[in-house]
Amino acid sequence: MQALTLESSALSMNEREFKLFRSLVHQHAGIWLRDGKQIMLASRLSRRLRHYGLASFAEYYEYVQNLPDNRDEIRQLINCVTTNKTSFFREKHHFDYLADTIVPAIQAAALRGGSRNIRIWSAACSTGEEPYSIAITLLESLQRIYDRSAPKYKAPSTHPAASRSYSIEVVASDIDTAVLSTATRAIYSQDSLATIPRQIWGRYFLRGKDEMVRQVKVKPEVARLVGFQRINLMDSQWPLEGLFDVIFFRNALIYFQRKTQEMFLRKMIRYLKPAGHLFLGNAEHIPWMNDVLMPLNRTMYRLRENG
Ligand SMILES: C[S@@+](CC[C@H](N)C(=O)[O-])C[C@H]1O[C@@H](n2cnc3c(N)ncnc32)[C@H](O)[C@@H]1O
Repeated sequence: MQALTLESSALSMNEREFKLFRSLVHQHAGIWLRDGKQIMLASRLSRRLRHYGLASFAEYYEYVQNLPDNRDEIRQLINCVTTNKTSFFREKHHFDYLADTIVPAIQAAALRGGSRNIRIWSAACSTGEEPYSIAITLLESLQRIYDRSAPKYKAPSTHPAASRSYSIEVVASDIDTAVLSTATRAIYSQDSLATIPRQIWGRYFLRGKDEMVRQVKVKPEVARLVGFQRINLMDSQWPLEGLFDVIFFRNALIYFQRKTQEMFLRKMIRYLKPAGHLFLGNAEHIPWMNDVLMPLNRTMYRLRENG
């Protein structure tokens, strides 16, 4: 059996160990580690071995299997394995569509007596940049609509006034408990806002002082719109109530095999309001869901009437 070595001093993972962990990860998180991911997996799990002072991945596997209750350790292991790359307003066209098309449609329906609840689910939210970007987009868009319709003599309102007549809820979930605690803290480096116009971020983020000077914190009026919770999409029950106008499930699908992707998506669309939208990441295409989802352009989909 060939062992792949990371560095001369680092731990190596043999083929058998790779297959054992691959199936453990697949069973618990649905994530499928392709052949060739051995070095990546070894490097990510080596901190668990160091934590327990274990000498090999086989020993760590035994340890996990023999724990009387291994749920916490499985969570730690999954936290090591997930890939969490994200950023504010990543794939901006989705936020533009939300602001320019979906929110005005909700507003038009509200004027005809429809619902004033806007509910969005960020289903693999990582460290929180995506759900906070959603909340900011909703506030900005409602503000714009309000300012356009406000009588000319009235001074433009503050954000809470503009959005007060709507209830906004952004549900944000992920399997990874470490990213969820970062998301809940809502503190980011100022550099992460580099692509956002200064006047926008000035409205929604507080600047750190003293030793926090290079950091920003999401303002409470944005943070209170976003609720974080752990949802493992592999679980048979998802602790969610009610339906969503939009589900963001971006840049996560690529980690699952087709069968798992379809299982998640067929279940997910049951949480969409009629004609609700699903947004995927740029590289994620699902022509096999065309029976229930109408493809719009650029990885945006709308639930069909019979969906
Ligand atoms: C690359 S991030 C995507 C972040 C964000 N949606 C974006 O596009 O910027 C993928 C996320 O999927 C999450 N994930 C992986 N498997 C999952 C599962 N079974 N259930 C829920 N989330 C999962 C990971 O923890 C990770 O944070």
